[in-house]
Amino acid sequence: MDHHVKDLGLVKQGRQRIEWADIEMPVLRSIRERLRRERPLAGLRIAACLHVTTETAALMRTLIAGGAQLRLCASNPLSTQDDVAAALVEEQTAVFAIKGEDRDTYYRHINQALDIKPHLTMDDGADLVSTIHSTRQELVKEVIAGTEETTTGVIRLRAMARDGALKYPIVAINDAKTKHLFDNRYGTGQSTIDGLLRATNLLLAGKTLVICGYGSCGRGLASRARGMGAQVIVTEVSPLHALEAVMEGYQVLPMVQAAREGDIFITVTGNRAVIRREHFEIMKDGAVLANSGHFNVEIDIPALLDLAASSREVRELVQEYRMRDGRRLYLLAEGRLLNLAAAEGHPAAVMDMSFANQALVAGRHRPVGGTTEAGSHGDPHRRTDPRAAEISSVVGRGHIS
Ligand code: NAI
Repeated sequence: MDHHVKDLGLVKQGRQRIEWADIEMPVLRSIRERLRRERPLAGLRIAACLHVTTETAALMRTLIAGGAQLRLCASNPLSTQDDVAAALVEEQTAVFAIKGEDRDTYYRHINQALDIKPHLTMDDGADLVSTIHSTRQELVKEVIAGTEETTTGVIRLRAMARDGALKYPIVAINDAKTKHLFDNRYGTGQSTIDGLLRATNLLLAGKTLVICGYGSCGRGLASRARGMGAQVIVTEVSPLHALEAVMEGYQVLPMVQAAREGDIFITVTGNRAVIRREHFEIMKDGAVLANSGHFNVEIDIPALLDLAASSREVRELVQEYRMRDGRRLYLLAEGRLLNLAAAEGHPAAVMDMSFANQALVAGRHRPVGGTTEAGSHGDPHRRTDPRAAEISSVVGRGHIS
């Protein structure tokens, strides 16, 4: 079977870790048993671009139990767990993912996943959809629908739908309450702290931690950081979210003021250049910078490089940038999602809820004689079973329901 993973010698370790995660995923296990009995995915080809973690492996097992053929690539170059990738290959999932892969390899892997000619795309950040729409348009005719896991992906897809550019319907998994109210808040909240501690071994108690963005993820992160004794400052661009943070008892400041105060900064906005040149210029010596938003654009790394007189790795996943005035700023995990790059991503119990949505949506597509029970290929509004829309919202060709 075609695949590209780091080391098949890691199969045993990967399998053990997947089994451990599976214990905490009772919802997905029960869906798996039903799909195994009913085989609704027989004949369905799925390309998945997700973080290759133990929980994703549990989802892949579920889709395979339902009869799907799968190809999986990573949705971030640093989030793959190489032992899990190896174990999945042994279980007949074609995986194309290696932790630390460079940009070219990342996109080559996306294309290799798409070589399955998917009926269903499963995205976390919309890289499959954007690749199909830019360079692999010949694939569109066979795609029935797609799913999107995260906030940033849904934002990208809604923009495409608004422009009339989106060529097939997408179920926005992130919009499900059983996703963003739990995964983003409790999952990202806890695992970002986990990543911060694993990368740095810093004591949080007494530190001033600036959280940029008080949305679903920021709320969870702020409450966990406070629980560990940090003084939390929030920065926000939405007045409502800022007010909510004030009423939760956090100090809320404009970024230009927070930049002087913080010992540690974590971005979770989904926005670009949230921390930038004017902020780096006034930060304390020793300030630590990290991101848990989807893309590594929230901290303006080119500006940081431009300001730095020198840089060196001082610890795994910790890069020191020495400013011309002698101050040192520390960037964690190249500004990529800290919880997945430096820790294991979200705990299984919370991914159980997110991935139950993914599995249920996939399970609604029942291929019958080469097409689907859900509707004809000609009408994108009918290509997704309305029952799937009960679980989440659908981003379609210019429509959102
Ligand atoms: P959200 O939309 O609920 O919250 C984002 C918040 O950031 C909003 O309140 C917005 O007003 C604020 N914001 C935007 N620009 C800002 C700026 N320049 N300064 C300060 N605040 C700003 O989004 P959610 O669900 O919290 O997701 C945030 C990011 O995290 C997204 O990129 C999402 O894809 C990603 N994500 C990462 C996960 C992980 O495992 N690390 C898991 C789930 C989501």
